[in-house]
Amino acid sequence: MRVIIKPDYESVSAWAAEYIVSKINAFAPTENKKFVLGLPTGSTPLGVYRELIKMYKEGKVSFENVITFNMDEYVGLPADHPQSYHYFMFENFFNHIDIKKENIHILDGMAKDAQLECENYEKAIAGCGGIDLFLGGIGEDGHIAFNEPFSSLTSRTRIKTLTSDTIKVNSRFFDYDISKVPTRAMTVGVGTIMDAKEVIILANGVKKAKAIYHGIEGAVSHKWTISVLQNHQHGIIVCDNEAASELEPDTIKYFKDIEK
Ligand code: PGA
Repeated sequence: MRVIIKPDYESVSAWAAEYIVSKINAFAPTENKKFVLGLPTGSTPLGVYRELIKMYKEGKVSFENVITFNMDEYVGLPADHPQSYHYFMFENFFNHIDIKKENIHILDGMAKDAQLECENYEKAIAGCGGIDLFLGGIGEDGHIAFNEPFSSLTSRTRIKTLTSDTIKVNSRFFDYDISKVPTRAMTVGVGTIMDAKEVIILANGVKKAKAIYHGIEGAVSHKWTISVLQNHQHGIIVCDNEAASELEPDTIKYFKDIEK
């Protein structure tokens, strides 16, 4: 695992955006060979999306031949609901770049047959040859996508019931009214994320420090689903000093040293 420790949120976002752009450009995607990118929502990736939009506008990257798969979506929220992840992605990223609509994949939270929707999502990912790079954030409880604590580490796309902690944390997007927060979501599984050729997880702020500690120094455990990244051949955690603040000084020294 690589761990990149940056001083603040802006430098975490800039590092991740530059890395993603370098990967897309090195891949040199074409109509017949598209780059497949997994994407998150939440507060954390906003800085990366802003940087990617800026780099697109500066002509440093094109998303014309990029396929995207989002991590998750709330069950019961239509795409035009301002708190749906569909809405979030178009508002904060897709509307500002040259991605083709047919290359965007987001789980349909209103699907009549949710099970089938999840199965088809896995098939669509496989049909595109798998995900080249999966970008994600983490929850305070160490969840990746909506894979809450004790999710199977080999799980695939499915419906998950959200924990009361996650509902409380996410209520900030729903006027702090817990009753407005959907209680279930469709989410890619831990196994789906682990199948990506490369995974980058972002974390900033002291609220994520415990999850980062368990993810990097803890044992691999379904209690902290982030910890399974230790088993990925190309896993990268990019975090700021605050999120790294519960790591042992030796750990920080090691990762800073090796990145020199
Ligand atoms: P956040 O959420 O980026 O809004 O902190 C991350 C997550 O819950 O995965």
